[in-house]
Amino acid sequence: MEGKMLAAHFDVPGEPENLYVKEVSKPVPKEGEVLVEVHASALNRADLLQRRGKYAVPPGASQILGLEAAGKVVALGPGADGRWKIGDRVMALLAGGGNAQYVNVHSCQLMPIPAGMTDTDAASVPEAWLTAYQLLHFVGKVQKGETVLIHAGASGVGTAAIQLCRLAGAVPMVTAGSADKLEFAKKLGAAAGFNYKEEDFGTKCLEATNNVGADIILDCVGATHWEKNLQALNTDGRWVVYGLMGSGQINGDFLTKLLWKRGSLLGSLLRTRSSKYKAELVKAFTENALPYFTPGGPVQLRPIVDSVYPLEKIAEAHRRMEENKNTGKIVLQVPV
Ligand SMILES: NC(=O)c1ccc[n+]([C@@H]2O[C@H](COP(=O)([O-])OP(=O)(O)OC[C@H]3O[C@@H](n4cnc5c(N)ncnc54)[C@H](OP(=O)(O)O)[C@@H]3O)[C@@H](O)[C@H]2O)c1
Repeated sequence: MEGKMLAAHFDVPGEPENLYVKEVSKPVPKEGEVLVEVHASALNRADLLQRRGKYAVPPGASQILGLEAAGKVVALGPGADGRWKIGDRVMALLAGGGNAQYVNVHSCQLMPIPAGMTDTDAASVPEAWLTAYQLLHFVGKVQKGETVLIHAGASGVGTAAIQLCRLAGAVPMVTAGSADKLEFAKKLGAAAGFNYKEEDFGTKCLEATNNVGADIILDCVGATHWEKNLQALNTDGRWVVYGLMGSGQINGDFLTKLLWKRGSLLGSLLRTRSSKYKAELVKAFTENALPYFTPGGPVQLRPIVDSVYPLEKIAEAHRRMEENKNTGKIVLQVPV
């Protein structure tokens, strides 16, 4: 298979059944890039949207699914960062291409896999944890002692955000759609949890904060939660929208309610950011959060893996995520 590799593929957008593994050309690292032999990759909601034809791949990015991967460096392109050498165990933030045996990545989007961490765990880190870190620190500018309401608290991003809140000295609260997910989130560090399907989380959040509200809301739901979000938000609070699982179409007196809270509405996407921004984010996370994945420190961060599927079972993996069954990340094991 010289010059070839296996990769997840779909011929037409649609259901998970459209996914299969096929032989494609192996990428060759270009200027500033490193070629990684992928041992594991993980799923993200964007993969589901892309498979349905509803997420345009950013210009220049691989059309192959997969926003993150773990494996080892096998080749260096011209001008690649001297920090990396062949054989290094790495995890990578990708704009695409992770669901394959090899992927090209700009060297500044690589992180070393902490000692003792498996490839499966490492594959679950880059997209969810860098997103959560970015939302809390780069966008939300979280401060010690602040309260953060995290929607989808048992999701890949949510489980990372709970732990990063605690690391920052902030107080996480979550919403989720089942008692099991809320229980899991509380064990990870959430101070309170609200079942958004059964409870009014706006009222509950106020009750839990002595009628003050959340200083930051990390919102990947959007329209269906907007009114309760504005109820739950503290005066001068920051409301960070980073997903629209509950639609983007709002009807109602949105701006009036936002204005009376003097709220800041902030939007954030990671995949479409510049290389420079991603490099800064990877550097900050590597310095400030990655050391806490190694056991022994006062705060212990841990990757949350829900399930592991071989690459050829990618359709099953997509179905599990689409049915909202996962707590934490769904990982794909890639044949070496
Ligand atoms: N902006 C960015 O840069 C960026 C980067 C990465 C991810 N994201 C976004 O972050 C979100 C989480 O991603 P993930 O990969 O961590 O997801 P995930 O692990 O698949 O978890 C998503 C969870 O959200 C809940 N959910 C689904 N539909 C919902 C709805 N309509 N209303 C309320 N809750 C709903 C479900 O849990 P329940 O059982 O609790 O309902 C589901 O299991 C997604 O919206 C994704 O697009 C954004």
